[in-house]
Amino acid sequence: MTTHDTKTKVDTPDVTFPTGFVWGAATSAYQIEGAVAEDGRSVSIWDTFVRQPGRVLDGDDADVAIDHYHRYRDDVRIMSELGLTAYRFSMSWPRLQVDGKGPLNPRGLDFYKRLVDELLAAGIDPWVTLYHWDLPQALEDAGGWPSRDTSKRFADYATAVHAALGDRVRNWSTVNEPWCAAFLGYASGEHAPGRREPAASIEAAHHLLLAHGLAVEGMRAQGLQTRIGGSVNLYAVSPATSSEADHDAVRRIDGLQNRFFLDSLLLGHYPEDVLSDLSKVGDLGFIKDGDMETIAAPIDMLLINYYSRFTVSGAPGGAVSAAAAPTDAGSPWVGSESIGFVNGGRPVTAMGWEVDDTGLHEVLLRLAAEYPAIPLVISENGAAYDDEVTPDGAVHDTERLAYIDAHLRTCHSAIEAGVPLEGYFAWSLMDNFEWAWGYGKRFGLVYVDYPTQERILKDSALWYAESIRLGGLRNLSAQ
Ligand code: FCB
Repeated sequence: MTTHDTKTKVDTPDVTFPTGFVWGAATSAYQIEGAVAEDGRSVSIWDTFVRQPGRVLDGDDADVAIDHYHRYRDDVRIMSELGLTAYRFSMSWPRLQVDGKGPLNPRGLDFYKRLVDELLAAGIDPWVTLYHWDLPQALEDAGGWPSRDTSKRFADYATAVHAALGDRVRNWSTVNEPWCAAFLGYASGEHAPGRREPAASIEAAHHLLLAHGLAVEGMRAQGLQTRIGGSVNLYAVSPATSSEADHDAVRRIDGLQNRFFLDSLLLGHYPEDVLSDLSKVGDLGFIKDGDMETIAAPIDMLLINYYSRFTVSGAPGGAVSAAAAPTDAGSPWVGSESIGFVNGGRPVTAMGWEVDDTGLHEVLLRLAAEYPAIPLVISENGAAYDDEVTPDGAVHDTERLAYIDAHLRTCHSAIEAGVPLEGYFAWSLMDNFEWAWGYGKRFGLVYVDYPTQERILKDSALWYAESIRLGGLRNLSAQ
């Protein structure tokens, strides 16, 4: 590992975060753990998906991933070195509950107990996500998320895990990014289980939200001193031009990406205009009396994953998404498939995602202005770049460092503007299996050499550690 030369640098931040601000980094189970057939873990939809030809770039799988299941102690040591105050990770449902039903698997639970112990001993607050896309295959075989029963199965699993670990884990998130799980999993087919059934994907979205609500109710009823929320991926959305068609494109994309989830979780109803668009795709009779109250069960915080801004066009034949899928996939924009995603002229990351921290500002201020006041946390933010280890053994990821610096500055200015933002989790702690992109995209603060599993702190990690130590950000251009 490289050491950081701080001698020549000014040690005073020009931006200081409030005391108690959460400085975290995030991962998810399937992307890092490996050990897919150990200690009684059952098969998930991603294990099945990666084995289907053409689903993942270069045929990569996550059987070993970054071997975190065996290296978690070393990984916690790295978190300690960085000075993280919190670590967000997900628990693998198929590891904890074989085939998604019955009692918890003691060996799976033991792994997470050991991980939590290790974190607590290092003074790092564990933030658990209960579902980050690895549905037990047996539940997909029974219908998957388009089936209402999956919501109930999730609530059973969530309450069992919460009962087992709620004495030591304070911060819980139910479902990560229901938009992706529903529309990439069941409409475009870019993600597991790879179905291309637009009508079913709307049911999946509803049942993922219902699963969240049922889990919140069940966990809350246990009377533990925990804080519970859900994670949504939000985007700023702008029109390509001032035309009416482009404004309607914004209404539709913002509707399906943001308002569908925010209005249901925080206001207890789906937006009327989105329901009207979706009703042209399929019958919405699966929304039952009482569902919306359950989905809007009070939460203690909202977790936000923010990466980019969309610029959209409603003109016929609008340009194809700049962030196109790596594999053959349909459109996730159910009912709005003809909308074009155009290049907004900003620099892009290795994912083709435009870098725009003003979009994060917009998202945060909108939440504060249009929704009931609730503590907010950035649960994911970060960027993929084509990192290389240089002959000095370092990874000079200047662009990632600048990306995170800019977005943290935006967080700071939102706090100054009165937004109740409590913390920030960089995506990701370490390079890992990036879903349909396999190991082709690196998001980590920490570089992983996949053949040897060696971890190398990138410059962004060293800078993040220093920022945490300072409780703020130094002026990068003053160095
Ligand atoms: C988010 C996912 C996360 C990771 C980042 C890049 O949508 O939650 O697992 O893939 O994107």
